[in-house]
Amino acid sequence: MVGAVLLGSALAGCGGGDDSSSGSGSGSDDKIVLGFSQVGAESGWRTANTKSIQDSAKAAGIELKFADAQGKQENQISAIRSFITQKVDVIAFSPVVTSGWDAVLKEAKDANIPVILTDRSVDSQDTSLYVSFLGSDFVEEGKKAGQWLVDQYKGKTGTVNIVELQGTTGAAPAIDRQKGFADTIASDPNLKVVKSQTGDFTRAQGKTVMETFLQSTPKIDVLYAHNDDMGLGAIEAIEAAGKKPGTDIKIITVDAVKDGMTALSEGKINYIVECSPLLGPQLMDIVKQVKDGGTPEKRILTKETTFTQEQAKTELPNRQY
Ligand code: AHR
Repeated sequence: MVGAVLLGSALAGCGGGDDSSSGSGSGSDDKIVLGFSQVGAESGWRTANTKSIQDSAKAAGIELKFADAQGKQENQISAIRSFITQKVDVIAFSPVVTSGWDAVLKEAKDANIPVILTDRSVDSQDTSLYVSFLGSDFVEEGKKAGQWLVDQYKGKTGTVNIVELQGTTGAAPAIDRQKGFADTIASDPNLKVVKSQTGDFTRAQGKTVMETFLQSTPKIDVLYAHNDDMGLGAIEAIEAAGKKPGTDIKIITVDAVKDGMTALSEGKINYIVECSPLLGPQLMDIVKQVKDGGTPEKRILTKETTFTQEQAKTELPNRQY
């Protein structure tokens, strides 16, 4: 009893609000109850992702128990345990980092509650611990970023110094975007990553880390940031250092949120690889399918594109997020 109360308050204390109804246990009126544990609110992408999930649950008539983990894995584990205690129908979550999930996923499996991974994957060897993974191919995103750079410098001589702002250490998009980029630029020995450090996917950290890069590295030709927010923070640092972003330092980012696309259309960013946060409608379809006893595809990939500065000008008025 005391344990249940503690779990309940731990979930409520996860911040960002639990927008569910106050009743615990499965929906009394046959509504599907979905427990969703979100990473946090670190970026414009994440804010758009949260909105997509909340709006889609409402539209689909699914009762959503939403918990914001504020970037902490332990909060996500507590939230998942609380969802199990509450006997929700389905659990979905976007894992902060890839490792350390087996025990809690096993608890969900033992309680017969299906788990859907959204946006980010886990490194569990036992893939029966989750029913489906909906999200982007982050390695492919890194490859697209690298390929643009390879094309830019094709036939040119001289070393190109690249600095890299990585996402959250241990998170799937940070690991995979780094790998896809590194593997692709390896085809041109002139392209060299001279500094690589995490900026935790936030604008503030992107700015701070870029300031240190600028102080320690006299010649920076290119910045590759694993998301728009870090790129936008870095732009502030570059401008404060008296340099012109997009011209003195070429910038490649990932996401294509409105602020990033605006900077791209203004010439401050040179290229953006899209990562769509609009996962809500597909997630609700999978939840319904699972609840009806169906078997969703194990891996559902998000459709994505890339944007040049010219394409950003055309796309910006239609951008949803
Ligand atoms: O997992 C998706 C990544 O997480 C987005 O690219 C980034 O902006 C977010 O914080």
